[in-house]
Amino acid sequence: MNGTEISEDGIEYEFGVPFPGKILEPDQWAKTALKRVPEGLLNFEELFGRPGPVLIDIGVGNGRSALTHAYRLPDDNILAVDILPVVIRYATRRGNQRGLHQMRFAVIGGRELLERHVPAASVTEIHCYHPQPYYRSDEVSLRLVTPDFLRLVWQALVPRGRFVIQTDHPAYWAYMKEICAFFFEFEEHNSPWPDAPDGRSRREMIARSKGLSIFRGTGTRRDDLDPAQAAELARKLPLPVFNADRRLIELDRLNGGKPPNRRGRR
Ligand SMILES: C[S@@+](CC[C@H](N)C(=O)[O-])C[C@H]1O[C@@H](n2cnc3c(N)ncnc32)[C@H](O)[C@@H]1O
Repeated sequence: MNGTEISEDGIEYEFGVPFPGKILEPDQWAKTALKRVPEGLLNFEELFGRPGPVLIDIGVGNGRSALTHAYRLPDDNILAVDILPVVIRYATRRGNQRGLHQMRFAVIGGRELLERHVPAASVTEIHCYHPQPYYRSDEVSLRLVTPDFLRLVWQALVPRGRFVIQTDHPAYWAYMKEICAFFFEFEEHNSPWPDAPDGRSRREMIARSKGLSIFRGTGTRRDDLDPAQAAELARKLPLPVFNADRRLIELDRLNGGKPPNRRGRR
């Protein structure tokens, strides 16, 4: 596998980023690929072959964050998705080789997954690490975090279910914080997650090594909203049309504009 090596103590590294867990003997491997998401709503108990809380990781990339969850929450059933087949292929192999029978990896967009395949109030946690800010103006419509996406997250979560989101992009973060607060009781975390002090995801580790601040937050589903109110919010709230150019943010700071809060962040 390109860029991948195994250290003497059995830790897998990809371009210097370590992965949790160890590769087992082949007779202990799991089958974590969900090659095609079936039409209609998923039956999670059938999908995972056992009951249990469901955690969805959207835009999982090479799988690091989802593997972290699998070791942290062994009773959870974990569905990790991404739109890029190549990253899901590597992530799936990692889940298989670690014998993580409670994981499934699928190639599908996060929005499509939630809209077409996830029953309402069926998921305990939804995580989204470093969704792409998309810098080019013709790609702005591809940004994942929109009011309607958050409505779908809200709809998929069980009462008091949790939405975890993080980014290293200050303008995307400013938008996320503002919009998330309509659907969730939203709290910022100004330090690394205690279960993964070096970072939960690959992008988090790379961003930190470049000295970028990481913005993290947890939302608890607002159970005082009803579906009609959530739909109304999704219609009315602004889209993520911020200018993602990091140089503009720096210029604003140099010109005396309010800088993003970097104090104490890692
Ligand atoms: C910047 S990477 C972050 C990957 C990983 N979460 C991490 O933190 O290392 C963003 C990932 O989101 C995926 N992605 C982009 N749009 C998506 C969408 N609509 N649904 C699911 N995944 C998406 C990309 O293919 C990419 O793997």
